[in-house]
Amino acid sequence: MIRKEVVKVLPNETFQESEIFPLLYSIINSKIDTIYNLDNFLQLIVDAGAKIVSARNSSLVIFNENIDSFLSESTKQKKEEEFSPFRNVLRSESHITIPLKLREVKDPFGYLRVEGKLDQEDQQKFDSKDLFLLLLLSRQATLKIENDFLYKSVHRNLTNTLGIMVNMLESRNKYIHSHSQRVTELALDIAEKLSLDQKERDALSLAGLLHDIGKIGIPDSILDKKDPLSMDEFDVIKKHPVVGEDMIRPLEFLTLEKSIIRHHHERLDGSGYPDGLQSEEIPMCTKIIAVADCFDAMTSNRPYRKAKSSLDSIKELESLADEKYDKDVVYVLKKSFLSH
Ligand SMILES: [Fe+2]
Repeated sequence: MIRKEVVKVLPNETFQESEIFPLLYSIINSKIDTIYNLDNFLQLIVDAGAKIVSARNSSLVIFNENIDSFLSESTKQKKEEEFSPFRNVLRSESHITIPLKLREVKDPFGYLRVEGKLDQEDQQKFDSKDLFLLLLLSRQATLKIENDFLYKSVHRNLTNTLGIMVNMLESRNKYIHSHSQRVTELALDIAEKLSLDQKERDALSLAGLLHDIGKIGIPDSILDKKDPLSMDEFDVIKKHPVVGEDMIRPLEFLTLEKSIIRHHHERLDGSGYPDGLQSEEIPMCTKIIAVADCFDAMTSNRPYRKAKSSLDSIKELESLADEKYDKDVVYVLKKSFLSH
C-alpha cells in the first residue's frame, strides 16, 4: 500500500556544489522528530534530493502505512546477508531510484527517485557522483528514521515494564492501589482534549505511572497514619518528587518525564514544592498531572478521611482554579466528568 508520495519540482536553477555538504550535514543533525513529524522529514529529504543532484523532479514513496510496525515485524525476518546500499538501485542517465531500507531488513519501505538532470553544461545526465550523493542522503535519512523508531520502541517497553513495577508497589497499600494508573488515564484524557502533541502525551503516559515512585522509601507508618502528620513527617513526604526524579536520572533521554515527576506538586501561586515554581514556569504536562493527581486523591479513601464525591472534588478544584490549578485543565476535567 502506498502511504505517501512527496514530490518536489525544482525551478530551472542549479544548486551550488558548496551547498551540498552543509545540506547533508543539516539532515543528519535535523531536529525534526520523525516519530511525530515524519511527513516534514520526508519533505526535507525530497527537497534535498532534488537540490544535491540538480534534478528537475524528486519524489519519495513510502509503501507502508506504519513504519513503526514495519520495523518491528520485518526485523524478525533478519537475513544473514551483508547490507548493500547498491542493491535494487535503478539508474539511467535520466533518473535514479534508490530503495529506502533499514538495517537488517531485506525489503525496502519506500524509495527516493530523481528525474530530469538540470545541467549548466547541457549534458543533462546523472553521473556516479549524483548516485553517490543520493545514496549518502538516503542512508542518513533511513538511519535517522530507524533511530527515532527504535527510541519509541524502547520508550514503550520501558513504560510497560515500569508500569508493572509500579502496580506491584502500589498493590501493597490499599490507599494507593492503582492510583498511578488512574492518574495516567485521566491525564491522557485531559491531554487529548487540550490537543497536546503526541510527544507530550507519551511523556505523560510514563510520568503519570512514575510520578509517585519516590514514595517507595516512605515508611507505611507515615503513609497510613490516621492522625495529622507532624512537620517532620510532612518533610519526609515532600521529598518524594525529588527522590522520584533521582531514581530515573540514569535514564538520560527522559527529560520531560523527569521534569513532570519533580514538579507534580508545584502550584500556580508558588506554594507548591520542591521548587516553588509559579504559573508559567510550570509546563502544561505538569499542570495536567497535578490536577489528575489531586482529583484521584480527593475521590479515594485516605487513612485520615473518606473519599469525596467526584462532584465535590471538582467543585473544590474549581474554587482553587487560577490560584493553585490551571483553570483550563480543571474546566476540561469538569466537562469530561459531566459528559459521562
Ligand atoms: Fe505525589
